[in-house]
Amino acid sequence: MPQRKTARLGLPNLGFGVGLRTQHLPDILSGGPRVDWFEIISENFMDHSGYSSQVVERLAEQVPIVMHGVSLSIGSTSPLNRDYLGKLKALAQQVRAVWISDHLCWTGLGSHNSHDLLPLPLNEESLRHVTQRVREVQDFLERPLVIENPSSYIQYQSSSMPEWEFLSRLAEATHCGLLLDVNNVYVSAHNHRFDPEHYIRALPHQQVVQIHLAGPTHCGEYLIDTHDAPVPARVWELYALAQQLTGGVSTLLEWDAQIPDYPGLLAELDKARQVLAGSMPTAPAPHTSMPGQTVLSTPIDFQLTPLSQDAHTIPEPV
Ligand SMILES: [Fe+2]
Repeated sequence: MPQRKTARLGLPNLGFGVGLRTQHLPDILSGGPRVDWFEIISENFMDHSGYSSQVVERLAEQVPIVMHGVSLSIGSTSPLNRDYLGKLKALAQQVRAVWISDHLCWTGLGSHNSHDLLPLPLNEESLRHVTQRVREVQDFLERPLVIENPSSYIQYQSSSMPEWEFLSRLAEATHCGLLLDVNNVYVSAHNHRFDPEHYIRALPHQQVVQIHLAGPTHCGEYLIDTHDAPVPARVWELYALAQQLTGGVSTLLEWDAQIPDYPGLLAELDKARQVLAGSMPTAPAPHTSMPGQTVLSTPIDFQLTPLSQDAHTIPEPV
């Protein structure tokens, strides 16, 4: 499969990366990154000058860093948080972030944080609202914002357009980038009974700058976006389609619970290289939840490391 070499929105194809997680730091510090780039959860490093920040600064000297946020709440009707945006911009300068992404979602109202990435009604009114907010954020950050499609479990009666149309029109109006989470498309397509291939084909591929891969959990009627398992076979098929249509964009493997050791994570990332080389990897169907098990979808809490815990869990450099 050909790999596009030219940048879009001025943003390069970084190759194959993983989400940086604290439990892998000893291996990474001793053995080197062994990936083309890292994605960090922005909120874990904002306004933070401790040891983890020093580690990321060191890693930024070795490979590109991309920032992925969970608190922008671009779909909320609460005012944009200028303090948060200021910290986001400062961190981007600190780690020389290649781009900054967040989700098409809202996370709370006022001071109440839901600790989840909640879907919003998709209609003309919300599109105008989000378009204006994306423009404001981009003006503030002085760079394109990259917006990710969320996984979802409900739809609103007030929605009047599919998510792919909403994202396409948002990208056209704001010139933002798109982060295509192929697993989220797979999860939402299953939950809402739409064709995931149609979704991927309908996006403006020239504005997709990154792809996310992850493994969900099957909970009977619903797929839940748990990031706790290998990428299932159907997601690899959709990934191949997305890479074919985009011409090749940065690939990022997310794994946030039941996290394997670093070699295990790298082995899963290798499957993406295998797909681009033209062969489908051996991959399981989504695993099934256990009876009585609590299954959480993209919970923000587990992506955010409390600073007090952070101080204890991040090792000294080798
Ligand atoms: Fe994602």
